[in-house]
Amino acid sequence: MHERFAQLAGEHISYDRTLAPLDGFSEILAKLAGEGLKGANVTVPFKEDAFHWVHELSHRAHQAGAVNTLIKTADGHWLGDNTDGVGLVADLCRLGFDPRDKTLLVLGAGGATRGILGPILDRGPKSITVANRTPAKALSLADVFGIEAAEFEQLHGRRFDIVINATSASLSGQLPALPSDVIASTGLAYDLAYGPRGTTFTRWAASQGCPKTADGLGMLVAQGAESYYLWRGVRPDWQKVLGEMEAQR
Ligand code: ATR
Repeated sequence: MHERFAQLAGEHISYDRTLAPLDGFSEILAKLAGEGLKGANVTVPFKEDAFHWVHELSHRAHQAGAVNTLIKTADGHWLGDNTDGVGLVADLCRLGFDPRDKTLLVLGAGGATRGILGPILDRGPKSITVANRTPAKALSLADVFGIEAAEFEQLHGRRFDIVINATSASLSGQLPALPSDVIASTGLAYDLAYGPRGTTFTRWAASQGCPKTADGLGMLVAQGAESYYLWRGVRPDWQKVLGEMEAQR
């Protein structure tokens, strides 16, 4: 994806994947930094390690409690940013569901939810409700962000413009216990996870009559484009790259 961004921008970059051992994040980063690394994306399960590794944090990384983008500054320090939430907002806008003035329900209260709430709130939604299998975690996130927490079963009869699945349930082919009437009446069901034919959640939402569903491939590409911008100062045509990736799945 990043090499395609560079190609479209007429730039040359080298972007490689490195698998770090679970207890070896700092060592790998120190080694890569010594070899001239200028920037990196960090993915699960290392986003919190990256948060502690950097010298400085952006506001959105601080809010998210996690870092997915490392940027080497001119004075040789490492800045940690988080582009996940802005990537999601960009993709929601692409889909015609700008969160501004919308009612949103976010399922899950782990790191993924924490990463997206700030940028959604910045967009000025009408309301955000967070629901989680373990209610105490939803309550504590709701407290931090000043939003509503609810339990799944309390949601019967409620209607939302957008429901976002930020649980990791899709990764194991499971569904959060959301009442089916809620998903049937939702304008857009969005899963942060993605797969070749959508996810368990997006397929379930469609089967319940939800008129529009999307998986997180668009968010993946949009957050990558934002990282590219942080490194290179150039905004890649991410929707073109997304179209190419969609055509290949
Ligand atoms: P991530 O960084 O992906 O958010 P996490 O911090 O481990 O990962 O959080 C996973 C989230 O998915 C949690 O909200 C978890 O619910 P609990 O807090 O109750 O554990 C949620 N989750 C995972 N599997 C789930 C399932 N089968 N049904 C509902 N929620 C699930």
